[in-house]
Amino acid sequence: MDRLLALVYLVYLVYLSTAVIGSEKKKHRVQHGPCNFQVTNSLQRDSPPPSSWQERKMERLESSTENNTQWLQKLERSIQENLRSGMEEMKTNAVHTQTAAMLEIGTKLFSQSAEQTRKLIDVETQVLNQTSRMEIQLLEYSLFTNRLEKHVLQQNQEISRLNDKSSLIEQRFSALEARHVEELQGLQRERQQLQDMLERQRRLVTQLHGELGTSTHTSTRLQKQQGILTDTVEQLLAMVTHCNEIPTTPKEEPVIYRNCAEIFRSGLTENGVHSIRPPNSTRTVKVFCDMKTRGGGWTVLQHRRDGALDFHRGWRDYQMGFGDPSGEYWAGNDLIHLLTSSQEYSLQVQLKDDEGNEAYSHYDHFYIDAEDKNYSLHAQGFSGTAGRTSSLTQHGTQFSTKDRDNDRCSCKCAQMSSGGWWFEACGPSNLNGIYYAGVSNVVHYNGIKWYYWKGASLMATMTTMMVRPAGF
Ligand SMILES: *[C@@H]1O[C@H](CO)[C@@H](O)[C@H](O)[C@H]1NC(C)=O
Ligand SMILES: *[C@@H]1O[C@H](CO)[C@@H](O)[C@H](O)[C@H]1NC(C)=O
Ligand SMILES: *[C@@H]1O[C@H](CO)[C@@H](O)[C@H](O)[C@H]1NC(C)=O
Ligand SMILES: *[C@@H]1O[C@H](CO)[C@@H](O)[C@H](O)[C@H]1NC(C)=O
Repeated sequence: MDRLLALVYLVYLVYLSTAVIGSEKKKHRVQHGPCNFQVTNSLQRDSPPPSSWQERKMERLESSTENNTQWLQKLERSIQENLRSGMEEMKTNAVHTQTAAMLEIGTKLFSQSAEQTRKLIDVETQVLNQTSRMEIQLLEYSLFTNRLEKHVLQQNQEISRLNDKSSLIEQRFSALEARHVEELQGLQRERQQLQDMLERQRRLVTQLHGELGTSTHTSTRLQKQQGILTDTVEQLLAMVTHCNEIPTTPKEEPVIYRNCAEIFRSGLTENGVHSIRPPNSTRTVKVFCDMKTRGGGWTVLQHRRDGALDFHRGWRDYQMGFGDPSGEYWAGNDLIHLLTSSQEYSLQVQLKDDEGNEAYSHYDHFYIDAEDKNYSLHAQGFSGTAGRTSSLTQHGTQFSTKDRDNDRCSCKCAQMSSGGWWFEACGPSNLNGIYYAGVSNVVHYNGIKWYYWKGASLMATMTTMMVRPAGF
């Protein structure tokens, strides 16, 4: 009896295992039924049909399970039959062998069902894997669709923006057009006005034309009368000139002399102002001619007598000359150069003090260079009564003025001593210094100076520098 109980237990075990397999199968059916994904997208695709090999496998499994079940039922039935029929003729041997065979069959069955269970689980995992893969794909699809939708939305916005813009432009354009039309109308109106004006002016012009015709007629008559009058006037003028043509003595061509010596020789022996034209010069200059001193014929270069003229002047004045030849004046360095370099000249310096004493210094040979050598002084052959030594520095001293310092002093002699002169450093003479009239004990370093006659300061009442060709 124990063995029989064990067999029944075994049968029960096999039955349980087939029941478990059956429930698993049902679960798969539920899971692989119609797809329940929550993707509401229109792009959702139908899940691919379960592959046929899976189905077939399943069917095979089912049928084998059924076979087993049938087989088990058959066995159950035979056992019950055996139980019923063999209770009485129970022989321990037969039971032994039967039980052993049944045990063998039971273990075989058990191992078969376990194998099938494993296979089923495999299939299930594969199905699960595929499902998850499909889910992932679906998710990707939905993401892609979302992106596409967003893009489409953006494009729609862009399009609407463009539409707005174009409508704005249209508005502007229409406004412009309206303005254009207005302007055109205004222009047309103006044109009409201008045409009217033109018409009026044309009428005016024709009117004026008519008037002009009449006035031309009048003016031709006037012109004729004027012609007659002109003729009469001309006749009168001719008569007047005829009356004026009383014979006059023919004018002498004025002779231009080069210096006062030539004038003296021409017979003019009175002191006075004359025009001379120095050699190589195109310009005539008025100078004073001294025709009385030491045989006459002197051309005066410098003259002072009352201090009326300012001698503290610049280079240009000393170059061109200044003052009035009939009074105080400086003849000009250019003139002195042109005169004294054209031939041999001698120089006479005439002086008078405030007591009326006269004295002179004479130089047989005297000339000055041109401006390019700053009118350097050359004086030789000294004699005279105004000092036993020459007060003129004798050779090559350049001329200086307040604005051109050519002296040999670190100072500026022309500014210290006043006037323009051949200063050395600053030298014993300056006839162009300041004119101090009257007796004074004060020594003036900027006064008129002829050192070797009267010392540092000469109270001169008169100075004259004059030249005459040597050997006159
Ligand atoms: C199940 O039994 C049928 C007939 O009895 C047989 O044709 C079939 O091959 C069996 N299936 C399996 C898997 O043993
Ligand atoms: C699903 O199957 C692929 C190949 O078919 C495999 O590479 C992958 O590891 C499997 N995934 C799971 C979770 O089993
Ligand atoms: C005058 O001109 C001549 C010729 O050009 C020249 O040789 C002479 O030196 C000039 N004389 C003076 C005083 O400039
Ligand atoms: C003349 O004077 C000027 C300036 O006062 C000087 O530059 C020039 O060198 C002088 N000419 C001669 C030849 O010394």
